[in-house]
Amino acid sequence: MSRTSPVVLGIESSCDETGAGLVSDGVLLGDALASSMDAHARYGGVVPEVAARAHLEAMVPVVRQALDAASLDLADVDAVAVTAGPGLSTAVQVGLASAKALAFAIGKPLYGVHHLAGHAAVDVLEHGPLPARCVALVVSGGHTSLLLLGDLGRDPVVHLGDTTDDAAGEAFDKVARVLGLGYPGGPAVDRAARDGDPRAIAFPRALSRPQDPAYGFSFSGLKTAVARWVEARTDAGGQVPVADVAASFQEAVADVLTRKAVAACREHGVGTLLLVGGVAANTRVRSLAEERCAAAGLELRVPPVRLCTDNGAMIAAVGDLLVRAGAPASPLSLAADPSAPLTGALLSGPWA
Ligand code: KG4
Ligand code: ZN
Repeated sequence: MSRTSPVVLGIESSCDETGAGLVSDGVLLGDALASSMDAHARYGGVVPEVAARAHLEAMVPVVRQALDAASLDLADVDAVAVTAGPGLSTAVQVGLASAKALAFAIGKPLYGVHHLAGHAAVDVLEHGPLPARCVALVVSGGHTSLLLLGDLGRDPVVHLGDTTDDAAGEAFDKVARVLGLGYPGGPAVDRAARDGDPRAIAFPRALSRPQDPAYGFSFSGLKTAVARWVEARTDAGGQVPVADVAASFQEAVADVLTRKAVAACREHGVGTLLLVGGVAANTRVRSLAEERCAAAGLELRVPPVRLCTDNGAMIAAVGDLLVRAGAPASPLSLAADPSAPLTGALLSGPWA
C-alpha cells in the first residue's frame, strides 16, 4: 500500500510505561505498551532504576509489536518522535537513546518532544484536529496545569496556572497509600470511591478564595487533610470508611479542577476544554467536567481512558503534528531534560 503522508514512530519511556505508536496524518495506525507497574508495587511507587531496566528490556519488543499492529516495517517510518522530558531521568534516557539509534539506523529525522504536549495531542487520534484555540487541563502524576493552546505543532504554550505543590495524580497516589489501597493509587481510589458518599466529608478546596490565583492549584493541603482525618479516626479507635474518604477526596479534586477549567474557558473566550493526562481517566473528573461543560455551553474533549495514561501513541501524535507543521528536527546530540518546562511541543534543548 502506498502512503502519501509521513509515518511517525513515537516512543515513550518517561515513567513506568514503555510505549510505541505509529501515527500518520492524525490517524493511529498501531501501538503497543509494556508496563513495569507490577515491579514497583511492592515499593509503593516507581523506582527509577527498576523502571529504566524494564524499559531496556521492553523497548525492542514494544516497537516491533507496534509495527506489527500497524502492519508496517521499520523501513516505512519517516520520522521518530520521542519523549525527551520531563520524566524520570534514567527512564527518559532509555527511550531517547533508543529513538536516536532507530532514527540514525533508518536515516530519518528525530523529534524530541515534551511529554505533556503528547498528552494533549493524543486526543487528535480520537476526535480529529484540535480547534484553533482551546484550554487544556493537563492532570498527570507529575503535573497539573491549565494551558491555553493554539496550534500545538507551531505555537508556544501559554500557562494560565499550575500547581504550586503536588500534582493531582500525586495526591491520588498518596491518598491511596494512606487508605491502604496500594499502587497505582489513582485507579484504586477511583474504584473505592464508587461505593462511597462524595459529601460524607468536607475536604478543603484550596486556592478557591477570590484573592487566590484564579487558575493556580494546590493539592498538598488536601492530601494532609485526608491523612489527618484518617489518623484522627484511627486514634479514636474507629473504623476508617475507606469508600467515603476516597469519594470525598475525589470530589474535592474533581470540583477544583473542573471549576477552574470552565472559568478559564469563559474568561479567555474559548469554546473547547481539552481534559488530558492520567487523572483524566478518573470517573468523577470526567463526569463532573461533562456536567459543567454542558452547563456552560462548552465542548469537552477527553481522550478514551486507554490513551489518557502514558502511551506511545501520544508521542507519535505530537510528532505527527510537528512533522506536518514543518518543525525543525532535533540533533542526535539532544539530551534528556527531566524537568523540562512546557513552552511548546518541541524540546530543543539542552544539548548533550
Ligand atoms: O499521565 P500519567 O500516566 O503519567 C504521568 O505523566 O505522570 O499519569 C499518572 C497519574 C498517576 O498519578 C495515577 O495515579 C493517575 O494518573 N491516574 C488516576 C487514574 N488513572 C491514573 N487518577 C485518578 N483516577 C484514575 N482513574
Ligand atoms: Zn504522562
